Amino acid sequence: MAVLKKIRSRWWSPAAEEFQPEAEQPRPALAGQLYDIRPLTISHLDECWRLDQRCFVDGEAYSRETFEYLLTAPEAVSFRATTIAGSMVGFVVGLIEPDHTGHITTVGVAPDHRRRRLAKRLMAEVEKGFRQRDVRLVRLEVRSLNVAAQRLYESLGYAVTQRLPKYYSNGGDGLLMLKSLD
Ligand SMILES: CC(C)(COP(=O)(O)OP(=O)(O)OC[C@H]1O[C@@H](n2cnc3c(N)ncnc32)[C@H](O)[C@@H]1OP(=O)(O)O)[C@@H](O)C(=O)NCCC(=O)NCCS
Repeated sequence: MAVLKKIRSRWWSPAAEEFQPEAEQPRPALAGQLYDIRPLTISHLDECWRLDQRCFVDGEAYSRETFEYLLTAPEAVSFRATTIAGSMVGFVVGLIEPDHTGHITTVGVAPDHRRRRLAKRLMAEVEKGFRQRDVRLVRLEVRSLNVAAQRLYESLGYAVTQRLPKYYSNGGDGLLMLKSLD
């Protein structure tokens, strides 16, 4: 239960609170680097956990136990982005909920590999995995101040359907976003 509570309260980051307009965020230099999108399994537990701590520098990083739960759950649909050399630089974890909606529980990309469409590719892959398991509706929660993530989701066709007052443990509001896969 504690694990699930933690999962639900994930979607915020102080990086988002400190969000600066796009023009003030220089894009990283390695824009030409190539990446692969591959399945994320329990064999990547430690690498994923370490990367998560680099993505969520706010004390809201998942515990190793939470990742262990997520990566062994039969209802999980998870992918990682790797460099050609094989290092993990991004991840996404989706869960098929009992009501058969797809739930994006977390997505993260290493700071020095952002703005190269990795999150977009990871999200596309998890949606494909959901479709293959007959999921027709995807949901996620995002902190109201996490503008970067909201723009990502909007660009993929997610729409805000509800504000979730004080959804986060620190009192911040969340936004519920939905996308139909039909
Ligand atoms: C949010 C996050 C996953 C985006 O990863 P990313 O690989 O950089 O995103 P992409 O390159 O696929 O971006 C796709 C689109 O999303 C939007 N976007 C992504 N980051 C943005 C930012 N910082 N500012 C504005 N728009 C942004 C843009 O529309 C972008 O398209 P563009 O680059 O052509 O303008 C990444 O910033 C991250 O890991 N943040 C910390 C963890 C987090 O907040 N996760 C989500 C909530 S749990």
